[in-house]
This record gives sequence, C-alpha cells and structure tokens, in this order.
Amino acid sequence: MDEIAALWHSLPATAALQREQFAAPPLRTSAPGAPVQISFSASRQQFHTKGGEVLLKQAENAGLSPKHGCRIGICRSCQCVKESGVVENVQTGEISSAPNELIRLCISVARSDTTITL
Ligand code: FES
Repeated sequence: MDEIAALWHSLPATAALQREQFAAPPLRTSAPGAPVQISFSASRQQFHTKGGEVLLKQAENAGLSPKHGCRIGICRSCQCVKESGVVENVQTGEISSAPNELIRLCISVARSDTTITL
C-alpha cells in the first residue's frame, strides 16, 4: 500500500488517493501458567498445555488439526464454544470465564482446565 501511495503521489494525479489498510494488533506476551488440561468435547480429545502459547498452536503441537485461517484473530475460522474454564484473549486481555462463550483458538490462552466444543 505504501508503494502504491508513493507511486500515486509521484504522478500528476487529478484526484485524491483514497485507501483503506488493515493490520492486526501485536499479540501481548502472556505469562506462562501451570499446565492445564484442554478437552475437545465433540472429538473426545485431550491434551495438556505447556506454557502460555495460544490454544490453536497448543492443539497443533498435540497433533490435532483445528480449523483455522488467518491465525491472528480476524477471520473467525477457529472460533468455537468454550464450554467451561477460563481463557484469556491475548489481543485484548479480556478474560472469558462464563460457560458457553465464543472464543478464537488462535488468540486465546487457557488459564484453567478448559473444555471446548470441537
Ligand atoms: S484463525 Fe482466523 S480468527 Fe483464528
């Protein structure tokens, strides 16, 4: 986008350049916690987390293949229902502790034993 804008401004343009640009905010560093158990209720798969990595990466490290797309919290391809447990959104710091809330695996870190519909 910056290169296109530079090109636009180098030319004798007759109209103002209009542009829209998106970028994901940087992920906050999340403090590693004690290992917790993650359960995927639909597939009956379980694994234990190691450190403070996001749930999508933790699941992949455990050999699972959750659906995903952008991996930065935008596309919602990895969105699923957290049935129980506490997770932190690493982009906003928001804590999800109520049952049956939607979370995105690519930007969520478990803070307690957690069950996810997947
Ligand atoms: S993979 Fe796109 S929001 Fe999680």
